[in-house]
Amino acid sequence: MNDAMRKTVIAGNWKMNKTPSETVSFLRELIPGVKDASCDVVVCVPFVCLQNAVEVTKGTNVKVGAQNLHFEPKGAYTGEVSAEMLRDLGVEYVIIGHSERRQYFAETDETVNQKVLAALAAGLKVILCVGERKEQRLQGVTNELVSLQTKIALQGVSVEQLCNVIIAYEPVWAIGTGLTATAEQADETNGAVRKAVADLYGTDAAERVTVQYGGSMNAGNADELLAKYNVDGGLIGGASLKVPDFTSIVRSASK
Ligand code: 13P
Repeated sequence: MNDAMRKTVIAGNWKMNKTPSETVSFLRELIPGVKDASCDVVVCVPFVCLQNAVEVTKGTNVKVGAQNLHFEPKGAYTGEVSAEMLRDLGVEYVIIGHSERRQYFAETDETVNQKVLAALAAGLKVILCVGERKEQRLQGVTNELVSLQTKIALQGVSVEQLCNVIIAYEPVWAIGTGLTATAEQADETNGAVRKAVADLYGTDAAERVTVQYGGSMNAGNADELLAKYNVDGGLIGGASLKVPDFTSIVRSASK
């Protein structure tokens, strides 16, 4: 972390977990434990839980995010949700380009870019996910790959809009597997992401961008990961579903 230069952000990605009523009880329990956090705290919940999450967190320091959107503002896209719909609900953040969406829902770097542009135009803050598969790490192409993903996703994003972009480096092989990148690997690859931002926007802008790590981050390894210069927070899956674990990670980021 480098608190002086950039915001530390701990975000939970609930994926397809918790019902609307479970959302209310979870957040009521979470809010008092994280109210003094010095980092930003975000929960990215399923679409159907957003309204409850926005209501329960009103007036607190917990922000609410969605996990996806469609890049078109409206139209004949059955089952989809637009950026404007999310804004109207009071949602502040949206995760874009998560590897599960790339893998199971055929998202490409190009559609990720379209979604990033749509989200920013509607005034949402973006958590943009990049990351390599295991074979790509073994081939030694991780840094090039995350750099390309970052540069394509940010095509057409202005330097002013970049203030509303967080990038999450999530090695696909570390997601939900219990395998975590070592703190050194996370620091190095987050650094490659920052370098890609520097190539596009210059060093000053790159030094101000929050780059999270995600992939089996938990209460036990958060301190070590967050101690690294280029790790400005986390995007947490499994451990964000339990109040004590998520609270503990928030505390690690607030030290
Ligand atoms: P886990 O923390 O469950 O590995 O998930 C990470 C993730 O995909 C967050 O977006």
